Amino acid sequence: MKYLKSKTHHYQITIDGPAGSGKSTIAKLLTRELGFLYIDSGAMYRAVTLYLTEKNLLNKSEKIIKSHLKKIKINFRKNKNGHIVILNNKDISKKIRSQIVNKSVSEVSAKKNIRQEMVKRQKKLAKDQFVVMDGRDIGTTVLPNAELKIYLTASPYIRAVRRKKDLTKLSEKISATELIKQIQKRDNIDSSRTISPLSKAHDAIVIDSTNLTISEVLKQISLLLPVK
Ligand code: DC
Repeated sequence: MKYLKSKTHHYQITIDGPAGSGKSTIAKLLTRELGFLYIDSGAMYRAVTLYLTEKNLLNKSEKIIKSHLKKIKINFRKNKNGHIVILNNKDISKKIRSQIVNKSVSEVSAKKNIRQEMVKRQKKLAKDQFVVMDGRDIGTTVLPNAELKIYLTASPYIRAVRRKKDLTKLSEKISATELIKQIQKRDNIDSSRTISPLSKAHDAIVIDSTNLTISEVLKQISLLLPVK
């Protein structure tokens, strides 16, 4: 699908949607197929949450937290294990998926200073790049001029089942009922916060992945890509 690559125009794809809708799985496969850069914006909020948790700063004032933001260096790298996330030179790819981070990430990502800083960094990372970026506010706020915007969703039950699989891989035990509760709580916080909440861009295409396989979702997206 290299036809998407033009020297003068950088095609950009955004995938937004609630937790567990399959955004990152689809985004990674799509970037591999297209040869684009993948930016996992949720991983950036997770990295900040991990930093604040480990430094005992979660309950500090916005002013104190703001003063720490410049010390938080987040990088993405690709290696044989896939996409890895680096926080101040340490690979935190696994840690940021743990329950400790899951519990606080919505509150952290609702903070104004943190959002402003992350949105600024995300725009910079995507500048002049062919990218697929996934998150909650990418189509509405980070890349409002992206050529293709997808809003990926799925039922809370299916999303909880998917999250449970991820957590089992990390050897963390949690019941499906508890996960559904957590997912609904996160959906509420993510969609009701004042600054760039989880919302569908007016020009995004909605794909409900509840009853679709990964390849069926990919097929639907590939039909939306320009053909030359
Ligand atoms: O996609 P994820 O589950 O890794 O995202 C983790 C959290 O970060 C989620 O609760 C919402 C928040 N987030 C956000 O507010 N804005 C984004 N662009 C991406 C994620």
